[in-house]
Amino acid sequence: MRIKKLPEGLINKIAAGEVVERPASVLKELIENSLDAQADTLQIAVEKGGKKLIEVRDNGTGIHPDDIMEAVSRFSTSKIDSFDDLYCITTYGFRGEALASISAVSRFSLITRQKEFPLGKELFVEGGVFRHLSDTGASVGTAVRVRDLFFNLPVRERFLKSERTELNHIMDVFFRYAIYHSDKRFSLTVDGKQIYTLLPENTEERIKRLFPKVEQLISFEWENQLGRVSGYYSPDYQSGKGFIYINGRPVKNSMLKKIISSKLGNSFYVIFLELPPYSVDFNIHPSKIDVKFRKDRPVYELVKTALEKSGKPQVFYSLSQPSVKYGGEFKILGQIENTFIVVYYNGEVYFIDQHVASERINYELLLKKYRSGGIDSEAISPVKLKLDKLQQEKFEQLSSVFKNAGFDFKLKDGTLYITAVPVYARGRDIKKFVLNLINSEYPEVEIESFLGELACELSVEAGDILHDEEAKSLLKLWLETDNPNLCPHGRPIYYKIPVEQIKKKVGRR
Ligand SMILES: Nc1ncnc2c1ncn2[C@@H]1O[C@H](COP(=O)(O)OP(=O)(O)O)[C@@H](O)[C@H]1O
Ligand SMILES: [Mg+2]
Repeated sequence: MRIKKLPEGLINKIAAGEVVERPASVLKELIENSLDAQADTLQIAVEKGGKKLIEVRDNGTGIHPDDIMEAVSRFSTSKIDSFDDLYCITTYGFRGEALASISAVSRFSLITRQKEFPLGKELFVEGGVFRHLSDTGASVGTAVRVRDLFFNLPVRERFLKSERTELNHIMDVFFRYAIYHSDKRFSLTVDGKQIYTLLPENTEERIKRLFPKVEQLISFEWENQLGRVSGYYSPDYQSGKGFIYINGRPVKNSMLKKIISSKLGNSFYVIFLELPPYSVDFNIHPSKIDVKFRKDRPVYELVKTALEKSGKPQVFYSLSQPSVKYGGEFKILGQIENTFIVVYYNGEVYFIDQHVASERINYELLLKKYRSGGIDSEAISPVKLKLDKLQQEKFEQLSSVFKNAGFDFKLKDGTLYITAVPVYARGRDIKKFVLNLINSEYPEVEIESFLGELACELSVEAGDILHDEEAKSLLKLWLETDNPNLCPHGRPIYYKIPVEQIKKKVGRR
């Protein structure tokens, strides 16, 4: 066979596979185009999980009547001129292939009007084949309707998941953009039913509207020479859900996700990173959702620090201010089940998990010591500990973090001789203490996760009886921590009930 150029229709069909994976990827491209066109109102409709219909109407700039055919041909974009532009992209789109790909694998229609023109244009393309282009009455902006996705690629169509799963992906895309663009109006209609109508609001309001289970949102912010991190998390909503943005783009990055959940556990979060454009590469994936960092370590460190220092809960904040007398409005009601300290403060009743609070205190103490010259250690008369094969292997991986945390030891013929321990371990059952540390699960062998476990070992247990004075001093230390909301593993430290809510429940006004 001789070499020949593939017909454009076929090229588009092949390329479509890269950009268009499923209905949600179509929605993503259409939303991005609307936002790039400066729309501030986006009306979205889907049917049958997007398999039957995906529609986005916007009030953006519209497309010039002479450019309409260009819009659906490959590598046509109004967004960049030169290669250098690739490094300072401020629009979502730039590859100029989304509409070409989408229209190659669907029944595609586009209606658009720019404000300078009295009439709009309507274009119809079916499976990459041009059907018609005509004048039409239209409001300013663009409406794209994508029907019967993959109708001409039955194999791809068969690989789509259930309507429900596809709809979940669609919701995820909708949330990603609706959260970031809280200053814009969005509506979402699913199978004829309008399920969201969002008016301009601030980010917090938008998050709470989209995720009603979020009651309290804790904000955080951190900055260094590399960049800036800010965002929110909610210990109320233990969903494992999270949204990450880099320079305004929603992204996925499994390592970042892992780091965040090692700090926040399953708490819901939204996190915004701002990094210099040259340090991030969005171009690795045609649909630009995965990112790569030129240097990833510093980015991870930045995020870690931000989360470690994340904000104190606003309600308690005034307590650490010198003007408010400790013990004033802050009333310790008692301890229940030897597990929770119960406190009344400012119209709310707090149930504070004493073990988790104590873990947070010890963790921060250890971390501070470690970072400022090291954790003091204390020589002891050698304690002998026999390790089985598995424990030996594990211990070998952990030996350097053990050293850094103030332990000293020798391992000989499967027996561990412990000769020094961190001063905080004074008076403990060293054998049990060290065994627990060896047997713990570590998300990564790093000093921070080790100190997390060490803190846990040093902490007040659930079941320990606390006297008033002990409870008071625990509370005081806890309020002074950098992050009183979550334990080092990401578990929430307290649960609170507004007295208002209690009144409502018992019918008191
Ligand atoms: N909703 C819209 N409003 C205005 N112009 C649009 C819209 N959607 C697409 N366009 C125009 O069509 C072009 C091609 O879109 P697309 O294939 O998504 O490529 P890209 O977004 O990478 O430029 C865009 O550059 C833009 O000029
Ligand atoms: Mg685009």
